[in-house]
Amino acid sequence: MNKFYVTTAIDYVNAAPHIGHAYEKIAADILARYYRLQGAAVFFLTGVDEHGSKVEKAAAAAGKVPQEFCDEIAARFQQAWQALQISNDYFIRTTEERHAQVVQEIFRKLRAQGDVYKGEYVGLYCEGCEDFLRERDLSEDGLCPTHRRAPKELKEENYFFRLTKYKQAIRDWLHTSAQAVKPDGRRREVLNQLEDDDFKDFSITRSRGSLTWGIPVPDEEDQVIYVWIDALTNYITGAGYLTDEEHWKKFWPADLHLIGKDITKFHCIYWPAILLALDISLPKLVFGHGFITVEGQKMSKSLGNVIDPNFLVKEYGADAVRYFLFAANSFDQDGDFSRADCIATVNSHLANNLGNLLNRVLSLLDRNNDSLVPAAALEESLAKRAVEHVQTYHQCMRSLEFAKAIEAAFHLVNDANKYLNEQKPWSLFKEGKKQEGLQVLYGALELVRQVALLLYPVTPGLSAAIWEQIGFDSLIPQISVAHEDCCNPVPGGLKIKNKGPVFVRIEELQPVIST
Ligand code: MSP
Repeated sequence: MNKFYVTTAIDYVNAAPHIGHAYEKIAADILARYYRLQGAAVFFLTGVDEHGSKVEKAAAAAGKVPQEFCDEIAARFQQAWQALQISNDYFIRTTEERHAQVVQEIFRKLRAQGDVYKGEYVGLYCEGCEDFLRERDLSEDGLCPTHRRAPKELKEENYFFRLTKYKQAIRDWLHTSAQAVKPDGRRREVLNQLEDDDFKDFSITRSRGSLTWGIPVPDEEDQVIYVWIDALTNYITGAGYLTDEEHWKKFWPADLHLIGKDITKFHCIYWPAILLALDISLPKLVFGHGFITVEGQKMSKSLGNVIDPNFLVKEYGADAVRYFLFAANSFDQDGDFSRADCIATVNSHLANNLGNLLNRVLSLLDRNNDSLVPAAALEESLAKRAVEHVQTYHQCMRSLEFAKAIEAAFHLVNDANKYLNEQKPWSLFKEGKKQEGLQVLYGALELVRQVALLLYPVTPGLSAAIWEQIGFDSLIPQISVAHEDCCNPVPGGLKIKNKGPVFVRIEELQPVIST
């Protein structure tokens, strides 16, 4: 693979970022870093979804005009992603001029070719969902089951997208490219939605009376383009569609759209249909991940358990948050963030198993080999086991099984710890068997070097610290498989830099500040 284009859903800016948003962005970042390390040209796009009535209302409630409000919240998202070491190549905002132009251009084209037409819409509209609901989706008391609010009956003239025309093509896509939507359970869900009686053309505009904060329909002042067409288009705007031919040709189709399980219909039915209508090739994979709860509960403002990732990073550090979320949860299923589990997990894995291992090896090298890496080679049996675990790691990374990939990397850590404990290099030195002792230290150090690379996509800060202590100059972000430090075993003669624990234990339960 020589290019990898990964996107995340773009988050609504009606409220501050939370750990659920962060979970998805970290996953995309893990993959972006992983593929960069493999030498691929990576384009990693994330951003925010700024239009729509939800945002307009949140701005009004805050006493701000929408654009000012969006600027503030968008900045909080960007700060959070910086704090979490998210290495996105571009941060798209749907209020940017380039995006509005692409959305309008698409609209013009679809209208001219008859895929967009005018009709009357009557429906039950939930402002929380920004979508029309079906009678049978409502709870017994007639409320939207997600937002516990009564939907409004709306009747107005809108533009519709001719979704029904593309039904067979989407069905074929879902059936014939079994790899297009994952996990498979979500693919089957989408196939069911496709066969649903309610599968109809969908409305893609609102009259200005019901929505003002949006991109205007070209040549028609009274209609505003409704969120989903606007939002989904970010994936092509960001890649340079109609504005940067070279970038567009290099990166489209997207290799992966990473989204939460709640928005699969939009990404696996609406989006492919729009792309088919525009004669643009379809994304290679849409992956619908699970949802994160906090201490076993769904996040909600009323429970006061909405965690702002900015605060979380201040309390625990980016590596700890990233590591825990992905070591402890299966990405395709729902997962949980618990403070006690996070602390216990990172202390045990990162501080004890990995950090102490490196520290022991470096201290012994300081004392017994003038802080130099000995010239030696990894023992064959250990090398063989490492190769197997590394293979498993790669398979799991490529199939987004992050917890299993991390587990495979930790087999190397466990092997190295076992090797040290069994071979007892400290005793070998005491017995005057220096060469044997150094051979063991070399083996353990080489395994740690490999682990630093394997964990780099998940814990970039920790890996960089390990890399430096082993004695390499180059910072990890600059290396790739093309770089000799990356593939070659740790060279003898390198001067180690033992600076103490690479991962400082988190000692106590810290309060997490909620928003
Ligand atoms: N703006 C739309 C997406 C448009 S994409 C063209 C949207 N925004 S959102 O802010 O509600 O959600 C953004 C992403 O975060 C979605 O993929 C959503 O599934 C994900 N998550 C929201 N809450 C989540 C959790 N609690 N856990 C994990 N992901 C969650 O939908």
